[in-house]
Amino acid sequence: VSLAPHNSFGIVAKARELVRVRSEADVARLLADPALAERPKFVLGGGSNIVLTGDVRPLVLKVEIAGRRVIDDGPRATVVEVGAGENWHDTVAWTLEHGFPGLENMALIPGTVGASPVQNVGAYGVELQDRFESLDAVDLRTGRVFTLDATQCAFGYRDSVFKHPPPDDDEDPALPVRGMGLAGRALILRVRLRLPKPWKPVLEYADLQRKIAESGIREPSARQVFDWVCAIRSNKLPDPRVIGNAGSFFKNPTVTPEQCTDIIAREPGIVHYPMPDGSVKLAAGWLIDACGWKGKSVGNAGVYEKQALVLVNRGGATGGEVVTLARAIQTSVYERFGIRLEPEPVVV
Ligand code: EPU
Repeated sequence: VSLAPHNSFGIVAKARELVRVRSEADVARLLADPALAERPKFVLGGGSNIVLTGDVRPLVLKVEIAGRRVIDDGPRATVVEVGAGENWHDTVAWTLEHGFPGLENMALIPGTVGASPVQNVGAYGVELQDRFESLDAVDLRTGRVFTLDATQCAFGYRDSVFKHPPPDDDEDPALPVRGMGLAGRALILRVRLRLPKPWKPVLEYADLQRKIAESGIREPSARQVFDWVCAIRSNKLPDPRVIGNAGSFFKNPTVTPEQCTDIIAREPGIVHYPMPDGSVKLAAGWLIDACGWKGKSVGNAGVYEKQALVLVNRGGATGGEVVTLARAIQTSVYERFGIRLEPEPVVV
């Protein structure tokens, strides 16, 4: 089975076998089949945060669980439950159409709802964890379904329990186990999102402040914020249907205030943001740009012209080329700034 249509980088790779999962019952059936139950598995959502460096040997489970419904519309919040296979952006649009604002800053993030907790997606001042109620997942070893709240998901910046591998032993503890990574162990079935009332816009980001200044609209509606975010993103991020990419390729690194003072002394222009915990976040895009990478290529993999944080497939790129380019960028940023950039997508 070709995986090219199933990864936003558009990298050509194959899976030996791909199973579409449309319901919880599909997972149960699959795990009841001894031949399939034993096989290593790879859970695939929208494929918008992976780099395929070769054919995928594990059994690929393509999550296509559908459904969106309001499960609680109380005075302080609306809680909606969404199937893991639903498209994230369409879900944001759906909540707005039904009068439940709160996700608008995260418009146009590629991928599925089921993938959104895995890397705690976020944009323009709102992260998934700010709108998260709970999720249901199935343990791929035992078939047991379990629920996780935000604390159990251990959300961090583009991070969660689903990004960390479980210990290597063969035991089958009843999940979830506190502190244990769930990468490869769990398949997310549905996510419950909590949209607080009354709605308050989040407008702190510079790009949004610019929109307010340009338009003169000081009290935008959620729909207005949604439109602004869509405009900002389509202006500087490549549409994966046109140019293959996985969004930001590196996380924005954090440094101590002392390190930051050091770097600023050498690089006065560096873009940085103070964090609530006292650390300082640096703009990885700025660091990469400063090293002269914007618009450069290695083979068919390149650095996007309008945003150095995004690596793109210029046509026919292999995962190997993307990884080689990423390493070259990491080396030059390290040599110049002494900072190690960490990739954001999962290299498979
Ligand atoms: N910059 C440059 N040159 C570049 C790119 C950026 O100088 O080539 C500077 C910009 O001028 C800006 C700063 O770097 O001052 C930060 O850039 P931007 O505002 O575009 O945001 P970002 O830090 O690059 C992050 C997220 C995005 C998210 C936006 C908006 C990460 C790794 N990326 O990008 O998330 O949409 O903020 O909140 O945290 C993603 O994770 O895939 C993603 C797109």
